[in-house]
Amino acid sequence: MKNLGVNIDHVATIRNARGEDHPYPYLAAKNAIKYGANSITIHLREDRRHIKDKDLKKISSIKNIPLNLEMAATNQMLKIALKYKPNFVCIVPERREEITTEGGLNLKKNKKKIKYIVQKLNNFNIRTSLFINPDIKDIINSKDIGTRCVELHTGKISLLVKKNKNYQGEFTKIKNSSILAKSLNLEVHAGHGLDYRTTKILQKIPEITEFNIGHFIIGESIEFGLKNVIKKFLKILKKKIMSVIGIGVDIVDNQRLKKLTKNKKFISRVFTQNEQRISKKFKNISNYYSKRFAAKEAFSKATGFGISDNLHFKDIEIINNKKGKPLINLKKSTAFFLKKKFKVKSFKTNLSLSDEKNYSIAYVIIEKK
Ligand code: PXP
Repeated sequence: MKNLGVNIDHVATIRNARGEDHPYPYLAAKNAIKYGANSITIHLREDRRHIKDKDLKKISSIKNIPLNLEMAATNQMLKIALKYKPNFVCIVPERREEITTEGGLNLKKNKKKIKYIVQKLNNFNIRTSLFINPDIKDIINSKDIGTRCVELHTGKISLLVKKNKNYQGEFTKIKNSSILAKSLNLEVHAGHGLDYRTTKILQKIPEITEFNIGHFIIGESIEFGLKNVIKKFLKILKKKIMSVIGIGVDIVDNQRLKKLTKNKKFISRVFTQNEQRISKKFKNISNYYSKRFAAKEAFSKATGFGISDNLHFKDIEIINNKKGKPLINLKKSTAFFLKKKFKVKSFKTNLSLSDEKNYSIAYVIIEKK
């Protein structure tokens, strides 16, 4: 069962439209927990457009409401968080002119500041999360920053689903980011723009353990009531999910591989004729080999066997499709052997390759088809 966090910002939006006290965000918070939500999220924005300081004060004073405070990475917000000590803090980017949080944090630009804030919050045992785009580099940076969780921005996939457009590419990004994050011991959450349909799609990713949903829940509650809406989400989040056979991650030092690829014996032992032929089309050949080496190692780890008598480097060929997407092409006898070992009729492999300045990173998921 995955956790449901209910964001009640827009109860405050309705209240503020009249400038009086009704409806009461703290009551919505209490009720959401009563109806089965696992936590309550509020975003104290710099312009205080919905949630106000008095809401934070009131809600954080109520026992039994696990509270998740969303905030920008500023010293002023840090001071407020340390004053009210919510259970969780999610750091989000903020721009005054945006309607809602339109994208994930820019970790590259703001790493030092965010790291400082995360460390302070960690010291007070406040669970920290970073709201990021589903991107490999952002996951690695998040790990480096020292956060306990990441929340993947699901705004893009939500829009694609709502417009009935192809969302597979974005789904794969979210899935691969989740797998990498989990393998690095980060807890994975998802949020933004979610409704019943998008939640149903994303709950199939086993690594995502928490969904934070606001606008849709509050909007839908007008017609169906908060209790019924929460009930419906909890039912979706209870569903059993697909089975993953194995996950493998590998990071290769490009300089080390550069040295190794000078050795012809190494090349012919590890790479197929086809891979060697295609390498000639690439400007940076050692980088080409480095990424493929990482992919082969990641695949072998995902099988659970590693490179062994039954699984040689050359049994695992890494090719690119017409769009440049890397794929794993297994030797027939290897695929047959693995099917028998996995006890499945067929299986599917997913590969993601990326390179940082000095490293090649590959991760592979093997799924039962
Ligand atoms: N998660 C985060 C980090 C957010 O910033 C928001 C929006 O405030 C949400 C989840 C909820 O998004 P929505 O209101 O679109 O469900």
